[in-house]
Amino acid sequence: MIHIDRLIAEMTLAEKLGQLTMTAADYAVTGPVITPLSEDAIRSGTIGNLLNLYGSGPTRRIQKIAIEESRLHIPLLLGFDALHGHRTIFPIPLAEAGLFDPAAWESTARVAAEECAGDGLHMTFAPMLDVSRDPRWGRIAEGPGEDPFVGSAFARAKIRGFQNTSLADVGAVAACAKHFAGYGAVTAGREYASTDMSEGMLREVYLPPFRAAVKAGVAAIMPAFTDLNDVPMTANVPLLRDVLRGEFGFDGVIISDYHAIAELLNHGVAGDLAEAAALALNAGVDIDMMSDAYRVGLPVALQRNLVAMDDIDAAVYRVLALKERLDLFQDPYRRGRADTGVTAQSRALARAVGARTLVLLKNDGNTLPLAARKIAVIGPLADAGGDMRGPWGGAGRPEDCVSVLQGLMEAGLDVRHVPGVAIDGDDLSGVATALDLCTDADAILLCLGEAALMSGEAASRANLGLPGRQQELADAVFEKAAGKPVGVVLFSGRPLAVPELVSRAHAVLAAWFPGCEAGHSIADVLTGKVSPCGRTPVSWPRTGGQVPIFFGERPGGRPFNPNDHFTSHYSDVENTPLFPFGYGLSYGDFELSNLRVEPGDPLSVKVDVANRGALPAEETVFLFLNQKKPGVTRALLELKGFGKISLNPSEQGTVTLTLPPPTGRAELFVGPNAAFSSLLSLSI
Ligand code: NOJ
Repeated sequence: MIHIDRLIAEMTLAEKLGQLTMTAADYAVTGPVITPLSEDAIRSGTIGNLLNLYGSGPTRRIQKIAIEESRLHIPLLLGFDALHGHRTIFPIPLAEAGLFDPAAWESTARVAAEECAGDGLHMTFAPMLDVSRDPRWGRIAEGPGEDPFVGSAFARAKIRGFQNTSLADVGAVAACAKHFAGYGAVTAGREYASTDMSEGMLREVYLPPFRAAVKAGVAAIMPAFTDLNDVPMTANVPLLRDVLRGEFGFDGVIISDYHAIAELLNHGVAGDLAEAAALALNAGVDIDMMSDAYRVGLPVALQRNLVAMDDIDAAVYRVLALKERLDLFQDPYRRGRADTGVTAQSRALARAVGARTLVLLKNDGNTLPLAARKIAVIGPLADAGGDMRGPWGGAGRPEDCVSVLQGLMEAGLDVRHVPGVAIDGDDLSGVATALDLCTDADAILLCLGEAALMSGEAASRANLGLPGRQQELADAVFEKAAGKPVGVVLFSGRPLAVPELVSRAHAVLAAWFPGCEAGHSIADVLTGKVSPCGRTPVSWPRTGGQVPIFFGERPGGRPFNPNDHFTSHYSDVENTPLFPFGYGLSYGDFELSNLRVEPGDPLSVKVDVANRGALPAEETVFLFLNQKKPGVTRALLELKGFGKISLNPSEQGTVTLTLPPPTGRAELFVGPNAAFSSLLSLSI
């Protein structure tokens, strides 16, 4: 055990500010590089934390400088984004959320943590917990979707996976929940724009996953780049100090986002770097990532009496306490003993989880599993292994990724491939060759969608259709197919508004970005080896004009009534989404019945599930509540539980979900998704 107070007493101001500074190496760059990584700064103790450097060799070499050559021998903290895997890339978080399976969420985080630790890392900037109801926002890909209950369960599972039972564990890394808070509600879905919402909305929808993360013991939290109700989150005293530290009791480390403290000048709330640094520190931000505002600005802020030395010391204390919890003082090299690359075991997990995240949106006439062997595989995403990693590839290598084409060939199918068009761009010259391919195929598989980098950070889209000329390619193929089955595998980091594509295809499989084993996972589902069981954790709009669209709406005073014109509706499109939250078919055919509640605290909500289909499959069941509260409107449906059951053909079972007894009268709804028409209900 080191004595942190004693250590702080020995530190110069420059050394203290070094502990409050995180600088990037150039392995991955996501913003301006103000301070290039300098070994001299590590030697002089004026940089105490790094991001974007990994690998047992490089991390050990740099740590050695801090330990052996700096005056106080304080170990470096090394962080990196492992959003959905590190070396082994798993499905993007939005896809994983659709598993509705905390054990699976935890298992991929566990592997990612082991791989990070093997690479000498101590912290990952994950999980991303931004609830979002706006598919225009590219970062919806990185998070748990539209619902706070799911976001909270996701937070708990991911933090368990990353941090294991103890941060001192050699295979554990500190998790950093981000981006606190409200980032998912940026104006018009445009990246980095402002957010503005009622306190009620903030507390009901955007804060719960962070509260759950704190309760689960998350080591660090990153405030969002954005401003919320006029105050940038990086300087938001009411939210960081009062809510996060005060109300939630968070005593871990708050790390700014990349260059976010300097951006307080752009927000217009600080006149210079000293003021920006003071605002952030006074709000409770401990580590300055890539602004160099603390090292440059805090000495000036101290002179101007904008900050107190006690607050600097308190921040240094939290950083050193985290290093201590990670056991870095005792053994700074305990992580990073050997790079763990992608292994057969991690690939097997990626393949299995990848297959389970695929969402079967349509399957007319049991088009899938594919009966045909001779298949024309058309579209620009068929042979796009690298894109399968999605918008944040982590330390995953494109050459480690399996394309759809490769997966189908390895599954023994007779496949011919022509892309037809590029993902983006106007060139239609390849369409004719693609159509030729349809002539002697038994079935056609279109692999369409977004490129990996069309979602994620700085990748908002105002148009939610297929990019480029892909819709025209699809239309030409539908014409040409003349009755042959046409299936679509749709790749995206967000729900797409593609009603025409869906209505003309016989089958549609939403693949999101399944990760490094994509081709195998997809082939497993297309050939029937695995029954699809992914459910969309976010509503799919019919058109961008419906956005934001989500199931947790309030009824309003004039809820839609088809027989009354003066009720809430669009004149040119239905109110309902193309696919509701929770939607997803399987190769089974499920029937839910006999909804009942057994008294107690918690209440047991039971529903029988029967598989009337011809193949074994897994069903997901959701529990919603509708509550009334005098004087305050509540959502029509609030998600309160989810469960799963695997059943063979003709088999029947019971799903039991628990619920704290609601105060007052409430109505329960249970069903396979959030569409009212699919729900059983009961008053309690
Ligand atoms: C900026 C992103 O907003 C944040 O999520 C990420 O952790 C940092 N870059 C570091 O890569």
